[in-house]
Amino acid sequence: MNAQMPVIKMDRCGGVFVPMLRWMERRDKERILEIEALSFDKPWNWDDFFRTLRNRDCHAEVVEIRREVAAYSVYELKGRTISILNLAVSPHIRRRGLGQILVHRLMMLLDDRRRRSLEAIVAEKNTEAQFFFRALGFRATIKPKHFGDGQDGYRFVYRVRKGDAGDLL
Ligand SMILES: CC(C)(COP(=O)(O)OP(=O)(O)OC[C@H]1O[C@@H](n2cnc3c(N)ncnc32)[C@H](O)[C@@H]1OP(=O)(O)O)[C@@H](O)C(=O)NCCC(=O)NCCS
Repeated sequence: MNAQMPVIKMDRCGGVFVPMLRWMERRDKERILEIEALSFDKPWNWDDFFRTLRNRDCHAEVVEIRREVAAYSVYELKGRTISILNLAVSPHIRRRGLGQILVHRLMMLLDDRRRRSLEAIVAEKNTEAQFFFRALGFRATIKPKHFGDGQDGYRFVYRVRKGDAGDLL
């Protein structure tokens, strides 16, 4: 993976930071569980991450800011689709483009032959994530009562068009 992202962002005090993208590691556990707990009603525990990542088609990446994990994604390579299983950005640094970095990185894995789409399921009440995926060019279809508590979900899908792959960053 290209560990250094050529993206410079402004923080809230006007300083700059350079996000770094790398694979998730065991030493990230504490920070990831912290972000996870702040991001979801039903957060994954470390066992959930561990069990998911035992599947050789599943991978996890983090974005670091000043050597601290600020965001992460977990995804599965499923035939022609890449499925986003988990994605979160630390609440204090949202709307700074970190979620977009993680999703654009996955879009870069798409091509117009073998792996054509990227998908994520979002809970009906998670409007932030719905705005986010829409802004990144995903389209949604409803999945009635997708969640255990009877809540509907939306399946957000981004499909690569001919000639798009490699042109996303
Ligand atoms: C959804 C989430 C990952 C977005 O991450 P982020 O780093 O804040 O998003 P970005 O800064 O990359 O946003 C890119 C664009 O998406 C849209 N967007 C993102 N969050 C939005 C919000 N809360 N309201 C409206 N639009 C939003 C905007 O168009 C934004 O561009 P802009 O800031 O220039 O207007 C983050 O809010 C999060 O971690 N939420 C909790 C966990 C979650 O719901 N995960 C998704 C489940 S699969």
